[in-house]
Amino acid sequence: MITCSAPGKVYLFGEHAVVYGESAICCAVELRTTVHVNKAEEVIIESVLGSTGLDFEIHPYVSHAIEKMRQFTDIEGVAIKVESELPVGSGLGSSAAVTIATIQALNYLYKCGLSLEDIAKTGHEIEKMVQGNASPTDTYVSTMGGVVMIPQRKKLQHLKCPIIIGNTNKFSSTKELVGSVAKLRSEFPSIIDPILANIGQMSILAEKYVNESDYRTIGRLMNVNHGLLDSIGVGSTELSALVYAARHSGAISAKITGAGGGGCMVALAEDDNAISIAKAIEEAGGEAIITKNTEEGVRLE
Ligand code: MEV
Repeated sequence: MITCSAPGKVYLFGEHAVVYGESAICCAVELRTTVHVNKAEEVIIESVLGSTGLDFEIHPYVSHAIEKMRQFTDIEGVAIKVESELPVGSGLGSSAAVTIATIQALNYLYKCGLSLEDIAKTGHEIEKMVQGNASPTDTYVSTMGGVVMIPQRKKLQHLKCPIIIGNTNKFSSTKELVGSVAKLRSEFPSIIDPILANIGQMSILAEKYVNESDYRTIGRLMNVNHGLLDSIGVGSTELSALVYAARHSGAISAKITGAGGGGCMVALAEDDNAISIAKAIEEAGGEAIITKNTEEGVRLE
């Protein structure tokens, strides 16, 4: 049996804008999806969603990963078990993590010899097939770990401050939110395009501050990024409540992370106030997770 795991991620900057080729900065977090694979008589996929065969409705990412890997090797039967610390549909990259961990586990089991670049590329093709218009961000950062600038594929300085995630526990459909931004953009291109370009510029400016570990300045820019995300219609009452609760309890920064709508917000904290920020998020109705940046992307367990 082979076991691989891959991390989820938060966006420091650039969600939505990255779909239009703008720059984003993403940070892998120490919340992982673990995939166990073993040769078997038939295809069996087990997860919290149930036990199925090759099933593109219930297990689209794992099923597509098996199909894709059939281009490199002869896979007849395989038993796959998925366990995850990442809530599904919350903007933390759970679909990228399961896709990347599955590809790498099959890569080891069948000795396909795929490189990390090949794995990230195959994972992105699968996300595009399932979601429509997906950027390479989630699959790239889940494969490589660390802090990554996209589309430059540049690794930046590791983030050392505590990261707090606040989950609204409201399902958010990336496809629908990306669609709603596309609609707004097609109606008001002269307004929306500069906002997206501005978000991209923020990532380019922030690169220096990330490399200098200047969390105060990163935080001020993240707060501006939150306002711009709100302006393109991906905020919500629940997300705002968690963002302002985190800021009022001393967070360095707090913003939406991922597609928005529901899903999660992210806050950066000092070493000594992570617990009080997490409490404030819970009191405002969210579920808080204290985590940190991980330098490790997909790995063999
Ligand atoms: C979703 O986690 C982030 C978006 O930018 C979509 C994408 O990058 O594919 C909204």
